[in-house]
Amino acid sequence: MSSRGRKILVTSALPYANGPIHLGHLVEYIQTDIWVRFQKMRGAQCWYVCADDTHGTPIMLKAQQEGITPEALIERIGREHRADFADFGIGFDSYYSTHSEENRELAGDIYLKLKERGYIEARKITQLYDPVREMFLPDRFIKGECPKCGAKDQYGDSCECCGATYSPTELKNPVSAVSGSTPVERETEHFFFRLSAFTGFLKEWVHRKGHLQPEVAHKVDEWLESGLREWDITRDAPYFGFEIPDAPGKYFYVWLDAPIGYMASFKHLCRRKGLDFDAWWGEGSDAELYHFIGKDIIYFHALFWPAMLHGAGYRTPTAVYAHGFLTVNGEKMSKSRGTFIKARTYLEHLDPQYLRYYFAAKLGSGVDDIDLSFEDFTQRVNADLVGKVVNIASRTSSFIRKRFANKLADELPDEDLYRRFLGAAEEIAALYESREFGKAMREIMALADAANQFIDEHKPWVIAKDPAREGELQRICTQGLNLFRLLVAYLKPVLPKLAADSEALLGIGPESWPDAETRPLLGCKINDFKPLMQRVDPDKIAAMVEASRESLAPAPSEKPQGAQAAEPVAGEIDFADFARVDLRIARIVGAEHVEGADKLLRLTLDLGGETRTVFAGIRSAYDPERLVGRLTVMVANLKPRKMRFGLSEGMVLAAGPGGGELFLLSPDEGAEPGMRVK
Ligand code: 2FM
Ligand code: ZN
Repeated sequence: MSSRGRKILVTSALPYANGPIHLGHLVEYIQTDIWVRFQKMRGAQCWYVCADDTHGTPIMLKAQQEGITPEALIERIGREHRADFADFGIGFDSYYSTHSEENRELAGDIYLKLKERGYIEARKITQLYDPVREMFLPDRFIKGECPKCGAKDQYGDSCECCGATYSPTELKNPVSAVSGSTPVERETEHFFFRLSAFTGFLKEWVHRKGHLQPEVAHKVDEWLESGLREWDITRDAPYFGFEIPDAPGKYFYVWLDAPIGYMASFKHLCRRKGLDFDAWWGEGSDAELYHFIGKDIIYFHALFWPAMLHGAGYRTPTAVYAHGFLTVNGEKMSKSRGTFIKARTYLEHLDPQYLRYYFAAKLGSGVDDIDLSFEDFTQRVNADLVGKVVNIASRTSSFIRKRFANKLADELPDEDLYRRFLGAAEEIAALYESREFGKAMREIMALADAANQFIDEHKPWVIAKDPAREGELQRICTQGLNLFRLLVAYLKPVLPKLAADSEALLGIGPESWPDAETRPLLGCKINDFKPLMQRVDPDKIAAMVEASRESLAPAPSEKPQGAQAAEPVAGEIDFADFARVDLRIARIVGAEHVEGADKLLRLTLDLGGETRTVFAGIRSAYDPERLVGRLTVMVANLKPRKMRFGLSEGMVLAAGPGGGELFLLSPDEGAEPGMRVK
């Protein structure tokens, strides 16, 4: 089945316009781009749109910090993002900005329709306000003590130590991270989207076939069961965003106009291509609409977004496809380890095709995280792309050039093998269609093995020595090149540059998806072979990691202000005070995620003679599997603390500001569980 006649609109999540694209982002753009290129090759009318997500407090503050306007900031970042995407071969049909007239109009229109239909309500709320900067503070810009466990330096919405969630007004001793001042409570009127009014609609939508992956539908079900809350879509001035129609000084929250940015980007494309916007977005549209997203933004895309569209009289998505996060060498990406790699840094060292292939080889249709292991990366790219695929062309085209003036033979010596390759077209297509790219790559590499086996069996380098076997030599090489051509066509969604270079070698036009009608290239002239791909050079990987390594000291422009400033050394204590803290070496014998706590790991610690359970707020930096077996240091005489998830019997020691930058202490070799640290 080809895709001819299908109308398909595809999006990737909009990256924020306050930072560079990194390899974590690229999982999604590469995944989506492969899918889109595949649909285009199959003959669908398929459009791929995206944009920079330009609004919100972090962008406003970053611009202020740099002493420029937010417009200037988003313009610069937009340029950088476009260049990164282009160099990774991400073929957007429209890459736009949420700070556009189309988006302003669409956001206003959707809001007013929701309001007319009774889905918006106004309510007074109390929020923390920074009296120095004269602004209301987003939860992430307030720090203080956890109201549940007393841990210091916690954000306004949740505690990294005990996993509690709360409202910022509950924080003890709150401090504004923007100015360092003490925030005050202030009343303000906000508009809320009545998400709960869509509960019935969403319960049905979530389960209609194919809208969500099964594991995602399961999670969304839990949210639906626990009850949907109204969504605050308002932010007060000063805010970089769109002012709400008829509400001066009130702005749409960035997440209100971000997904509408998908529509705006497409609207911009409509103008350029003469497309009918309503035929794609109107209720009852026969076009397909797919959103590729990370698993962290499912709530927005599987609940708010379909509800907003439905409530305002637009069509809803055909499907939302979530993917997992990227780890590097088994761990969270880390600036200090040099594994937080920017797209640009990668491009300065390595060929983007390697990463496209590697991600394809690791991606499936589920939401599992994927790991970029540099060893595996090097091995796979070298073995598969260079060793198996490109090698077929270099082994055969040199004889065709030297001995036959670049002319292919008039017949294939093994037509069955050629037909076997063609026969795989639909099976490979089905794998691409269902986003099982890893499986598709395995199928294609199995064919590459068969092509190499053919060449190995026929040994053109031996035949070449016998002048009586000229014809045979030409036919064998022609067979090899025809098999190569089909392999590259199957890889084309993943490796468009390799495909273009190979098409140039073979002297053929852009390939569409092979089918039973695809005739072999016979009797025609090809062009001189030029190297198609180099082996991965491990030194380049090392140089890239080195170039990505950042010291823990923040760059001057990133220096946090106020409460985030470097923590001063605490007041003096006596040795006796220190001696009261019983620090012990512990071996981590178990580590697992804690259901319902995004920040915590449940550690089982062997203290020599006894075993303890400790909940540690280090999930953002450590993959539990990699912790098992290692030694660390714990506070063994800390009073046990009852937490939502169980009793925590001590504390492990870690340094760093949080997020991916947390570093568990390890003793030197020779230390044994239970030894006292003094
Ligand atoms: O999470 C993010 O990075 C958001 N900028 C994604 C927005 S996707 C869409 F809804 F706009
Ligand atoms: Zn807490």
